[in-house]
Amino acid sequence: MIVILLLIGVTDASYLTYEHYRDFLPPCSNNIFLDCGRVLRSQYSVVFGIPLAVLGLIHYIILTMLIVFSVIKKKHWLTDLIFLLSAAGVVISLYLVVLQLFVIRSVCFYCMLSALNSVLLYFLIRYYFWPQYQRLFFIKQGFLYRTIIKPLFFLVDAELVHVSMVNFGAQLGNISVTRGLIKRFYTYDNQMLRQKVAGIVFSNPIGLSAGFDYEAKLTSVLPAIGFGFETVGTITNRPYEGNVKPRLGRLPKSQSLLVNKGFKSEGAEVISKRLESKRFAFPVGISIGRTNIATFKKQKEAVQDIVQAFHKFEKSKVKHTYYELNISCPNLIGGISFYPLPNLKELLDEIKKLHLEKPVFVKMPIEKNDQEVRGMLDLITNYQVAGVIFGNLQKDRRNPVFDRQEIVFWKGKIGHFSGKPTYKRSNELISLAYRHYHQKLVVIGCGGVFTAQDAYTKIKLGASLVELITGMIYQGPQLIGEINLQLVDLLKNDGLKNISQAVGIENR
Ligand SMILES: Cc1cc2nc3c(=O)[nH]c(=O)nc-3n(C[C@H](O)[C@H](O)[C@H](O)COP(=O)(O)O)c2cc1C
Repeated sequence: MIVILLLIGVTDASYLTYEHYRDFLPPCSNNIFLDCGRVLRSQYSVVFGIPLAVLGLIHYIILTMLIVFSVIKKKHWLTDLIFLLSAAGVVISLYLVVLQLFVIRSVCFYCMLSALNSVLLYFLIRYYFWPQYQRLFFIKQGFLYRTIIKPLFFLVDAELVHVSMVNFGAQLGNISVTRGLIKRFYTYDNQMLRQKVAGIVFSNPIGLSAGFDYEAKLTSVLPAIGFGFETVGTITNRPYEGNVKPRLGRLPKSQSLLVNKGFKSEGAEVISKRLESKRFAFPVGISIGRTNIATFKKQKEAVQDIVQAFHKFEKSKVKHTYYELNISCPNLIGGISFYPLPNLKELLDEIKKLHLEKPVFVKMPIEKNDQEVRGMLDLITNYQVAGVIFGNLQKDRRNPVFDRQEIVFWKGKIGHFSGKPTYKRSNELISLAYRHYHQKLVVIGCGGVFTAQDAYTKIKLGASLVELITGMIYQGPQLIGEINLQLVDLLKNDGLKNISQAVGIENR
C-alpha cells in the first residue's frame, strides 16, 4: 500500500510539474468550483520561485528513498526522518486544502489527490513502522512531561497531585475507549519480555510498587499504560487516615520523595469489596501490613491484625494473584518491629497457619546490614515464601546521593526516602539474595529505577521482576513502555532471547 501511494504521489506531482513547465492546463478547468487553472495559476502555486509541484515531487522522491533505506538499514534516525517528512507532508497539504477552499475558492483535483495521498501515507507509515513510531512517541511524551507537565505538578502539593492523578487515572481506566487509546500508544508488547515467575505469567517484568495505588483504583488503567503487574496497597486490617500532613515531599535534585504516609488505608474490608467485582488484565498483588494505630502494645496483637487482613482477602472473591507481606514500612507508630528474628518467626508461623495458596513475597528493608538480612532470609526460607522484594524506603539521610541542601531542608521532618537514594543498596541486596538464595527465593528488585538500564541492572544482578514508583513520577507514565522497549534492545545487544535468561547473569 505504501509503495502504491508513493507511486501515485510521484506520478501526480510529476504530471503537475510537466503541466507547469509546458504551460497547459489539466482538463479540469472549466468547472465553477473544480477549477484546476485558478489553483495552479494562483500566486500560491509558486514558493520562492519554485513551483509547489516540484517541491511535492522532491518530497515524494526523498520519502521513497528514505523508506527504501530504512527497510534495508533499519536505523532509528532514518525512520525518525520518515515520520518527520510524512507529518510535514500532512501539515502542508492541509494548509493547501484550506487555501483552496477558503482563499482561492476553487479546488484542483490533482492537489486534493495529493493531499489525500499524504494523509493516507502518514497513517500507513505509522502503522508499518509502529515500533519505531512508538519509540519516538515515548521520547516526545517524556520531553513534554519533563518540560511542561512535571514543572506544573511540582508547583502543587505533592499529595494533592497524587490523589488527583489517581482519580483521573481511575476514570480513564473505567472507559473502554480511553483505555483502548492509552493501550494503543503506551503499551509495548514483546514475547521476549514474557516469563513465568512463581507460577505466574508476567507479560513484562515492570510492575507498580506498593504505595501508589493504595486504594486499589488503578487496576484497569495500569495494564493499558504498559505495566506487567501491580501491587495494590499497602492495605491494613483496620482503616487508618494516615500520619499528620504534610506527609509527602519532593527532593528533585536527589530524584527522591519524602514519604511519611504511615499506611494510610481504608482497611481490608473496604478495599476487598472494591476489588471483588473487578477482572484484572494483569497479575495483581495485595500488599498487607499492620494497622498503624498506637493501641497495639504487644507484638501478638500486631501479628493477629496482619493475619486478619490476610484472612479477609482469602475469604473474599478478589481475583488477585499474589500477596506482599510488608514488614518494612519505616513510618509506623509504636515500637513493634518484625526485624528481630523471633518476632519475624512469630509472624511467619501465624501466616503459615492460613495455608495461603497464592504466592507470598516479603517486602524487605534496605537499612539492615548484610548479616542481619541474611539472618532474615535464612528464616524466611523455612517457610512457604515465594520470594523477597528489595526493597523499601531509604532511612539513612547521610546517603551520598542526597543533595545536601535538600536534605537539610527536610531536617526535623519525619519520613523516609524513595528514588535514587535507594538504588545502590537495593542492588547490593538483590545480589546478596540471588547469590545465596536463588534456588529457594524469587528476587524482585525495587528502588530508584528511572531508566531501562536501571531496571536491566537489577535484572542482571538477580531480580526476576522490577517494581517502581518514583521513576514514573519524575519521568512520566510513558516510562513503563519505554523501559520495556529498551529492555528488548538491551537483551538483543547481549544476545539473549528472553528476559528470564538475563536474570542473575552477573551473579552466576
Ligand atoms: C508515595 C509512596 C508511598 C509508599 N507506600 C508504600 C506502602 O504503602 N507499602 C510499601 O511496601 N512500600 C511503599 N512505598 C515504597 C515503594 O513501594 C518502594 O519500595 C520505594 O519507593 C522504592 O521504589 P522507587 O524508588 O521506585 O519509588 C511507598 C513509596 C512512595 C513513593
